[in-house]
Amino acid sequence: MDKTLKISMKPEWDEIEQMRNKYGDFMRSHTLPNDIIHAVIMVVSELIENAIKYGIFKRENDFVDISLTIEKKIIIIEVKNPIDDSAIPYLRHLDSTIQWIRGYQDPFETYIIKLRQVSTKPQYDSESGLGLVRISYEGKSILDFYVTEDNHINVSAIYKY
Ligand SMILES: Nc1ncnc2c1ncn2[C@@H]1O[C@H](COP(=O)(O)OP(=O)(O)OP(=O)(O)O)[C@@H](O)[C@H]1O
Ligand SMILES: [Mg+2]
Repeated sequence: MDKTLKISMKPEWDEIEQMRNKYGDFMRSHTLPNDIIHAVIMVVSELIENAIKYGIFKRENDFVDISLTIEKKIIIIEVKNPIDDSAIPYLRHLDSTIQWIRGYQDPFETYIIKLRQVSTKPQYDSESGLGLVRISYEGKSILDFYVTEDNHINVSAIYKY
């Protein structure tokens, strides 16, 4: 059985549900327990949402590339999107958010802090900043990212089980 499933998707919100289903089926075919599958599907969705929201898609064949690998003790999720120089402030924000989360031993604390912030923010603000802390707390995953030479950003989450 293949341990990796890679899919390139169009950067469209309507496509996310299909990705959730495909990765859910893939993990089920590896007979992973339901609680792990649910957590990892949430991680995949949050990373795809960010790729669509912050990616710079100029060409027709600019896609979001998703990869999920099931190893013996870990599941590695990687989501890649094209960027250009206009994405630099977002990358800074991404970097500082990941560093900030790493500074806490218990990701639950970061979740509570963010929830408090969200409840005092105006509703129209599209950057609620909950996605990465959900990945870290509810998704129990370790986040990282790098920028590729061909101007893509690759965000990864590692789920240990
Ligand atoms: N793929 C990405 N490319 C560039 N910047 C990103 C990417 N993913 C996240 N970021 C940056 O990291 C910040 C934190 O991401 P996070 O998912 O936690 O929050 P959000 O997307 O703003 O809000 P929410 O996920 O709650 O809708 C984003 O606001 C954005 O600035
Ligand atoms: Mg997000």
